[in-house]
Amino acid sequence: MAKMMHSRLPDRITLLGAFCTSIFLYGTASAQSDGSTDRGAYIAVTSDCVACHTAPGGKPFSGGLAMKTPLGTMYSTNITPSRTFGIGDYSEADFSRAVRKGIRKDGRNLYPAMPYTAYSYMTDQDVHDLYVYFMKSVQSVESAPSKTSLPFPMNIRGSMMFWNVLFRNDRTFQPDPSRSSEWNRGAYLAQGPAHCGTCHTPRGFLMQEKSSKDLSGASLGAWYAPNITSDKISGIGNWSRENIKTYLKTGHIDGLAQAADGMGEAVEHSFQHLTDADLNALATYLATTKPVRDPADGEVSRFVLGKPTSSADEVRGGRPIRSDDNPNISGAELFMGNCASCHNYRAQGSRDGYYPSLWHNSVTGASSPDNLIATILFGVDRHVSDAEAFMPGFGGKKTDATQLNDSEIAKLSKYIFDTYGRKNVSVSASQVALIRHGGARSPLLVLIRVGMAAGAILLALGCFWRVRKIVK
Ligand code: HEC
Ligand code: HEC
Ligand code: HEC
Repeated sequence: MAKMMHSRLPDRITLLGAFCTSIFLYGTASAQSDGSTDRGAYIAVTSDCVACHTAPGGKPFSGGLAMKTPLGTMYSTNITPSRTFGIGDYSEADFSRAVRKGIRKDGRNLYPAMPYTAYSYMTDQDVHDLYVYFMKSVQSVESAPSKTSLPFPMNIRGSMMFWNVLFRNDRTFQPDPSRSSEWNRGAYLAQGPAHCGTCHTPRGFLMQEKSSKDLSGASLGAWYAPNITSDKISGIGNWSRENIKTYLKTGHIDGLAQAADGMGEAVEHSFQHLTDADLNALATYLATTKPVRDPADGEVSRFVLGKPTSSADEVRGGRPIRSDDNPNISGAELFMGNCASCHNYRAQGSRDGYYPSLWHNSVTGASSPDNLIATILFGVDRHVSDAEAFMPGFGGKKTDATQLNDSEIAKLSKYIFDTYGRKNVSVSASQVALIRHGGARSPLLVLIRVGMAAGAILLALGCFWRVRKIVK
């Protein structure tokens, strides 16, 4: 789950504001080394380094997670203090340059799948503590992860230099002195370490974050990170502070939203461990973000659509749950056969809220079908505290008894939207097929290639012209 790239124009500052906020942020931080390690560990958690730098079943920070991006598959690197395979020979300055500027020790550019554009907001003190933590407390792992090799021309890392000139933010977080220190802390976390915008802010043509549409929702391939601006219809403007805190802490609010995929992972590795003060700060900041309305969302928020409805009467009689046996199977039958056992036959979930209701649910109230399709295909698997939220995916291999094909999922999704959520959302089998394979690919690669081919032809013609001139 690699999201890419990012830019935001920093706000104006006054030295006084910066000074006050840095005192607030690091009030107690007269850098003793032990304190640095503890603080560094907390910063590593708030910035979720482990999520990307650990492969499934692998040792923490040893890299090798395969991340599908619209431009190809990338592998994260070993960032343990191993001198041979990790970052053991990084000085603090090298480390800071990698984390905040996207430049490796050997001077080559990192791809923005490493969210350095967000981390560029991190304060010097945070980067220092993080460095101390990685060098002193992280266990060395002596192995090399798979190497990233992107297709031409993206394999030329130098091409990122141009991108960086356009989109990398080059100033650390600039506090707004007209706001409270709590707000500034929330803004710092959201824009910097916790990098909410990396997933929730839509991307422009060159994959940069569109700062004018900050946090207004973005496709991550298969999944969609919804609009979390303060807009009351399209965003989370109607959520209470407690809602936001509970969601970040547990990934689940019955009758509102659940967190799967990237958000489930972020809750699991990062947000559930934030202090109450930091969760309050995030809630304070999120309540003030610029509202962005999407006309497709109409007049009603996705969180209040739908009501309990039973399809039992339509499908009574034990008919099949898949279309193999019954090509005319209805959405209601698919629902009763595959979903009702957990979500209840009126889709109201279970009484304890473990199985969520499918009405008053952000996924079924959304105007885009991506997350409903992705939930059905890939399920939910999130560990928070000692509990696990698990829903099986129905997109397994053809031979699995629980596998649903593209048209079954399209029919089922349509039925769920119309019955329990937003009416008239269109869902097609080809959309399901696309999400099954990780979502739309970026046209960027093709365009760059076409552009480069045209450039090469011009260059060749130019050379030819010169050669002819010299020969004459
Ligand atoms: C969203 C995924 C993601 C997160 C979160 C992330 N990284 Fe990375 N990081 C990557 C990827 C991918 C690469 C390799 C990029 C490349 O090959 O250009 C990378 C590369 C690096 C490198 C360069 C190592 C080298 O020499 O190759 C360092 C250092 C690093 N990350 C540190 C961190 C730290 C510290 C954090 C937390 C503050 C962090 N990363 C969080 C994805 C991530
Ligand atoms: C790795 C990508 C990623 C990051 C980082 C991330 N999110 Fe999310 N977020 C998502 C996805 C995907 C969903 C949809 C999850 C679902 O429906 O199962 C989501 C859902 C949400 C929702 C629920 C909205 C709804 O309509 O269901 C809130 C609120 C939210 N995120 C807030 C945040 C905040 C605040 C941050 C930063 C502190 C953050 N997210 C960071 C990917 C991310
Ligand atoms: C074995 C039990 C089980 C079955 C069967 C099941 N679900 Fe779920 N479902 C869950 C659990 C558990 C969650 C996650 C609750 C959480 O995130 O806290 C969930 C979550 C969801 C969500 C919210 C996902 C999100 O990320 O916001 C939707 C939508 C959903 N299920 C739809 C379906 C549909 C449609 C079917 C039938 C194809 C189905 N479920 C079958 C147990 C189940």
